[in-house]
Amino acid sequence: MWVSKLTRPVLTIFLCISTVSANPVSRLENRADLEAFIDRQSDISIKGVLANIGPDGSKAPGVPAGVVVASPSRVDPDYWYTWTRDAALTYKALIERFVAGDTTLRSKIDQYVSAQARLQGVSNPSGSPESGGLGEPKFNVDLTAFTGPWGRPQRDGPPLRATALTIYANWLIANGARSQALNTVWPVIAKDLAYTVRYWNQTGYDLWEEVNGSSFFTLAASHRALVEGAALASKLGQTCNGCAAAAPQVLCFLQSFWTGSYVDSNINTNDGRTGKDANSLISSIHTFDPLANCTDATFQPCSSRALANHKAVVDSFRSKYEINRGIAQGQAVAVGRYSEDVYFSGNPWYLTTLAAAEQLYSAIYQWQKLGSVTITAVSLPFFRDILPSVAIGTYPSSSSTYTSLLNAVKTYADGFVAVVQKYTPADGALAEQYDKGTGVPRSAVHLTWSYAAFLTAIERRDAPAPPTWGEPTANTVPRVCTAPPSCNSRITFNARVTTVVGENVFVVGSLTQLGNWSPEAAVPLSAERYTSNDPLWFAAVSLPAETSFEYKYIKKTANGQVVWESDPNRRYTSSQGCDSSATVNDSWR
Ligand SMILES: *[C@@H]1O[C@H](CO)[C@@H](O)[C@H](O)[C@H]1NC(C)=O
Ligand SMILES: *[C@@H]1O[C@H](CO)[C@@H](O)[C@H](O)[C@H]1NC(C)=O
Ligand SMILES: *[C@@H]1O[C@H](CO)[C@@H](O)[C@H](O)[C@H]1NC(C)=O
Ligand SMILES: *[C@@H]1O[C@H](CO)[C@@H](O)[C@H](O)[C@H]1NC(C)=O
Repeated sequence: MWVSKLTRPVLTIFLCISTVSANPVSRLENRADLEAFIDRQSDISIKGVLANIGPDGSKAPGVPAGVVVASPSRVDPDYWYTWTRDAALTYKALIERFVAGDTTLRSKIDQYVSAQARLQGVSNPSGSPESGGLGEPKFNVDLTAFTGPWGRPQRDGPPLRATALTIYANWLIANGARSQALNTVWPVIAKDLAYTVRYWNQTGYDLWEEVNGSSFFTLAASHRALVEGAALASKLGQTCNGCAAAAPQVLCFLQSFWTGSYVDSNINTNDGRTGKDANSLISSIHTFDPLANCTDATFQPCSSRALANHKAVVDSFRSKYEINRGIAQGQAVAVGRYSEDVYFSGNPWYLTTLAAAEQLYSAIYQWQKLGSVTITAVSLPFFRDILPSVAIGTYPSSSSTYTSLLNAVKTYADGFVAVVQKYTPADGALAEQYDKGTGVPRSAVHLTWSYAAFLTAIERRDAPAPPTWGEPTANTVPRVCTAPPSCNSRITFNARVTTVVGENVFVVGSLTQLGNWSPEAAVPLSAERYTSNDPLWFAAVSLPAETSFEYKYIKKTANGQVVWESDPNRRYTSSQGCDSSATVNDSWR
């Protein structure tokens, strides 16, 4: 240990010398080197994405058409699955690329639409297609359900998929293929939006699959999907039930993640973390709208909040990783998921380091569009790191401060790409992580999301903007946040149970409304219509709609003894739609 401490000052001196000697010529060389890396790595990244998609991806043999494998790694870790989130973000990148002119991607996109339509119909441990199954995080690559234990549900998958497909549907409508948008793409989007409307106000697991609570990323993705989904529905003459009403309420709830100086990425949970998490950087890049102002409410990349948060998240890694040592404040460092991370000992990730760059490239786009940069008390510390002399104020594009600011932000953003360059092996293969001590690649090889993250960061750097999702008309926060009304269905339990005088019948099951399997809290049935010909016991119970549950009937004898029905448990899924109703007819067993 002490040896490495002794060597550190030597390293620092070396760094100082190299900084001092960084004359304009070597800076230009560095820049040329970065540009060459970006060109090469962009090509490797699009190929890397396509290699992991069936049916003809070279690293996805036997995988059905349009299915994205997270990574070809099958052991330590086994990522040979298709995650709804990773696939949607990957296809969002491909669809944006397609819309920007890469027409070769069309059949791949159509294959994704069909694969997702099929996947939405697969019952799984999160539920049936109608009762929450869309929140299942991952599936086997052959599109069957994965039934092992997992952090489920994850509610970001449906809105992310809806967003990717909405961008495609809007392109189809604008390019003479309205019927494909209506008949093939919209039905998939509609199911994802119905899921989002129904479940946005319930807890679930975050994008890193660890925390059960409310995740900033999930809510930000939900807001965006609901806004553009409602607009698409009206364009297509369809209805998106509850979308327009839910969107501002999601935005309202989103405000409560802001601590005053950064975004606490997970709330409604007791995770023992600071909440500084690349979750929030990925949220800002996902909801970037080229027509937006630097809106705080939607955490736009150039907003004061998102910039303060960028600093908080990036700074949380400065002293965390050995490879970040000696790098001055205001210069780019390796970025991981969150500082308390222990997965594979907690390393920086390529996709989170790239997200730090992408947010800044997107912010530059927005400032250029607005023609000014505004520095507030909230964002001042971010700007001071990269341009120590700046002060609070608005700097129009004609001012020299504006030029200095944009150059400083660009240099800072490029620095994150240079970190990725430094720790990318010569063949350009992007794994999930790179080692915090040595920088060598770690965890899953050829991670699809790493390649997709490289593509989107560089697209923003080159400045072709993605389509708007309607942020300018959806950034007003309601004065009071309200939770959605509960969506219940009324289930009548008809049980034929022959009883003797003094015996009573109850229903008990896996929902709170059914006593959570506790006989003391079981729901009593009525014998009002009981006859010797028809020994009917019944009760009408209000339960959450579209929810799968298990239950049994029990008898309580006159002396208080509880008699259970024989196994197995009965299973039922309550009816769809708020205020719907249904009847079940059972006989004691
Ligand atoms: C539901 O929404 C209300 C109002 O915004 C909020 O206070 C509450 O924390 C939310 N709960 C979940 C689990 O989303
Ligand atoms: C997640 O948290 C909610 C609310 O605290 C709880 O009802 C639910 O059972 C939890 N889910 C899991 C899988 O632990
Ligand atoms: C941006 O801000 C200006 C000035 O406050 C306002 O007039 C304009 O409507 C805003 N645009 C959007 C897209 O919110
Ligand atoms: C249950 O029985 C009632 C008559 O007692 C009948 O009207 C109803 O259709 C039955 N429901 C089901 C789901 O079998």
